[in-house]
Amino acid sequence: MPEERTEQPHIVTCTAPVNIAVIKYWGKRNEDLILPINSSLSVTLHQDQLKTTTTVATSRSFQEDRIWLNGKEEDITHPRLQSCLREIRRLARKRRNDGDSGVDSASLSHKVHICSVNNFPTAAGLASSAAGFACLVYTLARVFGVEGELSGIARQGSGSACRSMYGGFVQWIMGNKEDGKDSLAQQVEPETHWPELRILVLVASAERKPVGSTSGMQTSVKTSCLLKHRAESVVPGRMVEMTEAIRKKDFAAFAELTMKDSNQFHATCLDTYPPIFYLNHVSQQIISLVHRYNKHYGETRVAYTFDAGPNAVIFTLQQHVPEFVHVVQHFFPPETNGADFIKGLPVNCASLSEELKQGIGLEPMPKGINYIISTKAGPGPCVVEDPTQQLLSSDGFPKKMM
Ligand code: DP6
Repeated sequence: MPEERTEQPHIVTCTAPVNIAVIKYWGKRNEDLILPINSSLSVTLHQDQLKTTTTVATSRSFQEDRIWLNGKEEDITHPRLQSCLREIRRLARKRRNDGDSGVDSASLSHKVHICSVNNFPTAAGLASSAAGFACLVYTLARVFGVEGELSGIARQGSGSACRSMYGGFVQWIMGNKEDGKDSLAQQVEPETHWPELRILVLVASAERKPVGSTSGMQTSVKTSCLLKHRAESVVPGRMVEMTEAIRKKDFAAFAELTMKDSNQFHATCLDTYPPIFYLNHVSQQIISLVHRYNKHYGETRVAYTFDAGPNAVIFTLQQHVPEFVHVVQHFFPPETNGADFIKGLPVNCASLSEELKQGIGLEPMPKGINYIISTKAGPGPCVVEDPTQQLLSSDGFPKKMM
């Protein structure tokens, strides 16, 4: 439509990270506002390895709001997208009325074009909705000139997205107000706090998860008394202990709590009726491997956590990465033993002693793991200044259809 291309759009591009919870969020007390039944805590993963990039354009000539996700136009009327758009515009209007000179008044009445891509497979179960909604909200805010607290808006896109609004170690405080105004994310420690901490994402399967988190947690809230007990009596204490373990960089305490909380989350899934199974035989084998590895050394060197899917996320310290990666490679022999198995931060070579292999004593499971992404804690959302990185061209339409 030629009339859509008459005016130069205002274009902004940003990136946002994935986060992995070490104290899990599972269950809502308000579905529309996305208010949780417990607080949660996560580590923001580095965007060099995992990120969402979003470009937003506004122009007087755009006829309607539109969105393209990973190369395909999607339905902008999705209620969660609408919540984020509505809340950002509401905030921008409020700031403008309060006399904030940073707000771009002209673009407030304009329609937006949104284009977003992940640098990792969406279906791999790597919390793409968290990075996606965090990036959307952060970019929209930049377009309209809104600054300050935005996690309460990202939360309305996807609960876990509020934690992707900050880098490092982040807590989402559940809050107790009816309107959700106090249900916000906060940084506990910055990404520079614990430089030795490393994260390995073990991609077990690229299949879509069987039950999505939104509907899964709905059924858990309705049917699991273990979930109620967890939210009321277990998580509050764990939030305090976890914050303390992170502050002191006490790996053993951090690791044990992380594993216990992952296990309790999956126990609530099994306590849901009908039960939900996110872990598969590969996940169970990884759990055994980690416990046997730690037992062999008589100390907690490695921890696992699993979200609503079979991929394991491993936490360890830098000095243990080479050996543990080779342990994984030995017990889950990949199809090709090539470099493709390990992506992300480079991993040095290591040799495995017979004693260690025998100490672990598991039957190798060929091709159980597709690949490993080696990463660390990273920063929150950022603005991309380089115009060549924009996903929308100067007319405000996607650069290339992938
Ligand atoms: C298991 O944030 O995806 O990853 O709020 O319905 O969008 P909605 O759910 P979502 O749930 C994430 C659940 C989890 C645990 C966590 O990240 O805390």
